[in-house]
Amino acid sequence: MFNFRTLEDLGDVRGKNVIVATNFDVPIENEEVLETYRVKAAVPTIKNLIERGARVILVSHLGRPNGPEDNMSLMPVRFELGKHLNMHIKFAHLQNCRNSIIFMEDGEVLLLENMRFYKEELSKDEGERQNLIKELASLAYGFVNDAFASYRPSASTYDLALAVENRAAGTLMVKEVEKLTQLREAPVKPYVAVIGGAKLDTKIDILRSLVGKADTILIGGAMAYTFMKASGCPVGNSKIDEDMLQTAKEILEKAKQEKTEILLPVDHICTAEFKADAERVEVDSQNIPDGLIGMDIGERTLANYSQIIQSAKTILWNGPMGVFEWKGFERGTEAIGEYIGLSASEDAYKIAGGGDTIVAMEKLKINMKNFAHVSTGGGAMLAFLAGEELPVLQPLIK
Ligand code: 3PG
Repeated sequence: MFNFRTLEDLGDVRGKNVIVATNFDVPIENEEVLETYRVKAAVPTIKNLIERGARVILVSHLGRPNGPEDNMSLMPVRFELGKHLNMHIKFAHLQNCRNSIIFMEDGEVLLLENMRFYKEELSKDEGERQNLIKELASLAYGFVNDAFASYRPSASTYDLALAVENRAAGTLMVKEVEKLTQLREAPVKPYVAVIGGAKLDTKIDILRSLVGKADTILIGGAMAYTFMKASGCPVGNSKIDEDMLQTAKEILEKAKQEKTEILLPVDHICTAEFKADAERVEVDSQNIPDGLIGMDIGERTLANYSQIIQSAKTILWNGPMGVFEWKGFERGTEAIGEYIGLSASEDAYKIAGGGDTIVAMEKLKINMKNFAHVSTGGGAMLAFLAGEELPVLQPLIK
């Protein structure tokens, strides 16, 4: 178990500059934050510090920009966060933040612009990374990492932590690690994992680690078609990941040996064209005929999956079951989210997480309160559950 330094361990923070690493890597459209969960999740740590009179400086990345790019500015997050904290948030660029920091008042919050606007943020060269944060570190009394979802070591999540003497894990970080450790170390059986989404390559490690640990893995989303093809089932014109076919076969094979049941969809909602208003075609067989593209799981699949979910004592959900962004193809994802939240036994330990899962839960109004925890981590959650060491956690341990 991780024995983190906590916010209380920072001692008296009144009048002191405390940097908080957050993950505000959220989808933005027309200057509006589309997924507010990650922003809201940062609030408890910030509130704790401002109520204690600290001057809070927030650092985060957004997307994968090549230098400064207007559409990856954190400005919309500044206003979204301001709504949740009910206060004005100051804003500055790392390059010229010195005066903004020096003239902060107790209990104020300053958000720094996207740290990935500087290529040094993710540089492999330790000296370059340290140079980037040197001045900021010299102005700080404390550093808090609350950015569980930012698991790649970077200047602002790793080097900054090492450069500041008083450091701690934020409230969200502690909660994420605690809830996910329970799932990783001691899942109560039967353990059911519902894994979906489009990018199979990002799910390979977690699938491998679930084989032998979970009793059943229910597969949905576009990755299901790669698994179907790997098991010899026709998929029509569905998108599949050719490079992953062999890996998918190996996972299916290993699951048989380890007695983890992997279930694939047995019926589908399809279309002839991949577009939002395409006509829905119900295909009542596992095989998808030529000319059709799989877009969502069908009713019989839902019935099978819901039965298994109902008897589970531990449930992990990561990834949508279909193209939930388009009206005709959201039912699979919505129903699975509802089954897990409402039909599964009340004492079941239910964890959901991942960027697209959170977007789907917000859009489809799936009640997060019915889950033991909804992780802000996408890659981070999967890596942690797969047993990877996360170097950004090390500086936060007592
Ligand atoms: C995420 O959204 O999973 C994190 O922000 C990580 O983003 P990255 O894959 O660009 O490092």
